Amino acid sequence: MLTVSNLCASYGAIRAVRDVSLQVGAGSLSVVLGANGAGKSTTLRAIAGLHRPVTGEILLEERPIQRMPLHSVVRNGLAFVPEGRMVVAPLTVEENLSLSRFAGAPNASEIEDRVYALFPRLAERRKQPAGLMSGGEQQMLAIGRALMTAPKVLVLDEPSMGLAPAIVDLVFEAIVALHKDGQSILLVEQNAAIALSVADYGYVMRRGQIVIEGDPASLKENPEVLEAYLS
Ligand SMILES: Nc1ncnc2c1ncn2[C@@H]1O[C@H](COP(=O)(O)OP(=O)(O)OP(=O)(O)O)[C@@H](O)[C@H]1O
Ligand SMILES: [Mg+2]
Repeated sequence: MLTVSNLCASYGAIRAVRDVSLQVGAGSLSVVLGANGAGKSTTLRAIAGLHRPVTGEILLEERPIQRMPLHSVVRNGLAFVPEGRMVVAPLTVEENLSLSRFAGAPNASEIEDRVYALFPRLAERRKQPAGLMSGGEQQMLAIGRALMTAPKVLVLDEPSMGLAPAIVDLVFEAIVALHKDGQSILLVEQNAAIALSVADYGYVMRRGQIVIEGDPASLKENPEVLEAYLS
């Protein structure tokens, strides 16, 4: 469970995120939609501990994390998959996954098996350097690496970015499987159609603020959402 209240984040004089409040209920999947530059990534980076200082409150299972550095946020149960994946190119799939063992999940090899079951392509490429894999495979690895920390909340920034439609489907099948398994997920996505087909609740950001929110059915019927994101 993640509750964000009145979050504000700036880059110097640029107020990129203003008064953002959102929630991810236990076991649920919330999505944030919005155009380029709306402040989606800044919101996620602030939640994940990569953007400091911020004002407002970020509660992860009742615990305030808005002043914590990244490593403490991870240790408290939030894992972030950034835009652009950021896997360690020269290291193999296996090595990338084991880098995240530090966060201390005692059953790391069990989680690793689950990651390989979720993404059979990663299992086939265990010994391959991450940098030589396709964008889709790197996205799978980035998600797998986040899962290694056994997060209470998994935060994903545009996992479909730059991927071919067939690969987007594979990545989203995995997201749906995780959600079915009870994983709480906060997802930022520009592909509104696919995002609203998997989410329990959605938010639309514009110019640093949340301007519309609701369940997927109501968002799909909202004229502004239809025009801007579903046409
Ligand atoms: N490092 C930075 N320094 C200064 N301004 C920034 C920086 N990063 C982002 N911004 C500005 O903050 C605002 C929000 O950017 P952000 O990256 O959060 O948007 P976004 O919704 O994730 O966009 P996109 O869909 O392109 O990923 C934009 O006006 C952007 O130009
Ligand atoms: Mg972004």
